[in-house]
Amino acid sequence: MAGDGTVQLIDEKGKRVDGRDLDELRPLSIKIGVLKNADGSAEIRMGKNIIVAAVYGPRELHPKHRALPDRALIQCFYRMATFSVNDRKSPAPSRREKEISMILADSLSSVVLTEKYPRTAIDVYMQVLQADGGTRCASLIAASVALADAGVPMRGIVSSVAAGLINDKVALDLYDLEDQKGSGDMPLAYAPTLDEISLLQLDGIFTIDQFEESLDLAVKGAKEIFEIQKNALKQKYTDIRADVKEVPKAEAKEVPKAEAKEVPKAEAKEEPKA
Ligand code: CDP
Repeated sequence: MAGDGTVQLIDEKGKRVDGRDLDELRPLSIKIGVLKNADGSAEIRMGKNIIVAAVYGPRELHPKHRALPDRALIQCFYRMATFSVNDRKSPAPSRREKEISMILADSLSSVVLTEKYPRTAIDVYMQVLQADGGTRCASLIAASVALADAGVPMRGIVSSVAAGLINDKVALDLYDLEDQKGSGDMPLAYAPTLDEISLLQLDGIFTIDQFEESLDLAVKGAKEIFEIQKNALKQKYTDIRADVKEVPKAEAKEVPKAEAKEVPKAEAKEEPKA
């Protein structure tokens, strides 16, 4: 929720409270394949935000009457851990979490080739472990690469970041203090390879010039984040290749021919017919 914009958030040198320039992103890192049990997963650290995204599916949808006859249903579950914010968050899903889940599902549905998997569900869980503003954008960044990690076919990768107003100036990637004390917040989701916007929200009052400047800045930020997403995906395959090369030859031994005997016919019994 945007504030009234009266708190000084930019110093005389034009630096923000956390030392960033107005058009600078927070430090961002993405790790792919962090969960063994998920079909695809990613962990994102964006400033102090820590979020894990896990993808399951395409898989059977329950209850079945919710299935879509011509495409897969993307279900998002954005949740904040009770310990992720200063005041303990109730573990029950809040209205805010349900709304964010819905808009994130809409954004991801715009790039996933859902028509390839009719009557199925693709479930995307996003668990916020530590929140510091911009968690919906960070969740979307992680979910998008987790879908790619799961091998879900997509037309493009969704990237996401917010721009907003602090002391009447347009700034990129607001963190919690700027979100609360600034006067406007505009989260955006953008797929750079498609040049498509799949989420645009706005909180606060922007002039037309400020809106256009915010939009341009958020698109520029999303393009920067997209490069980090691509590199994280490439890194996973570089790591796998390094692991494969490191297997010592002695471990990868061939079965001697004498041991690889044929199974005697008597042992290879047929299952009795019912
Ligand atoms: O996180 P995002 O900016 O997408 O959503 P928001 O509703 O604008 O929330 C901004 C920030 O407020 C979150 O990132 C959290 O740091 C904080 N917050 C909180 O402290 N307690 C909550 N129950 C919800 C949000």
